[in-house]
Amino acid sequence: MAKAVALIAASALCVLALASLVQCHNEVFTVEGQVYCDTCRVLFETKVSEYIAGADVKLQCRSRVDDSVTLTMTGTTDKDGFYRLSVSGDHEDEICEVTAISSPNPDCNETVPEISTAKVGLSKNSGILSTSRYCNSIGFVKKESLSTCIKVLDDMGFVPQL
Ligand SMILES: *[C@@H]1O[C@H](CO)[C@@H](O)[C@H](O)[C@H]1NC(C)=O
Repeated sequence: MAKAVALIAASALCVLALASLVQCHNEVFTVEGQVYCDTCRVLFETKVSEYIAGADVKLQCRSRVDDSVTLTMTGTTDKDGFYRLSVSGDHEDEICEVTAISSPNPDCNETVPEISTAKVGLSKNSGILSTSRYCNSIGFVKKESLSTCIKVLDDMGFVPQL
């Protein structure tokens, strides 16, 4: 009898330990992306886009239910324009976005909504097994487009609109 009780107690403990293990096991996602300077003022990357070092980015998640902010993090790009943020916790039912906040380049610090944000899903239930999240590049627009842009866009198949 005592043995049976001990066994039940032990297995109950075991179940509890397992349950807390699962609960405590916090997902950590790595959010990565690049910040570019749209040197052609076309709102997409071209082969003459430049990557901005020292640009500040912000990651923010909002609840789908009441739009409240659930997470805010900031980061800065490295010399190649890459940022990397570690986010813990599963952010299912939230909308998360990375936004380009500021650029140290005075010639390329204009933000436009079309290219300044990228959505990122931070949930294990998104169908992505890896915890790495690669975001679309986000960027700033250069004050004046480079003279090579006409050729670059022509090579990309765009007809000049003059
Ligand atoms: C861009 O940089 C210039 C020069 O430093 C500054 O005057 C301007 O306010 C900046 N613009 C933005 C949007 O930060």
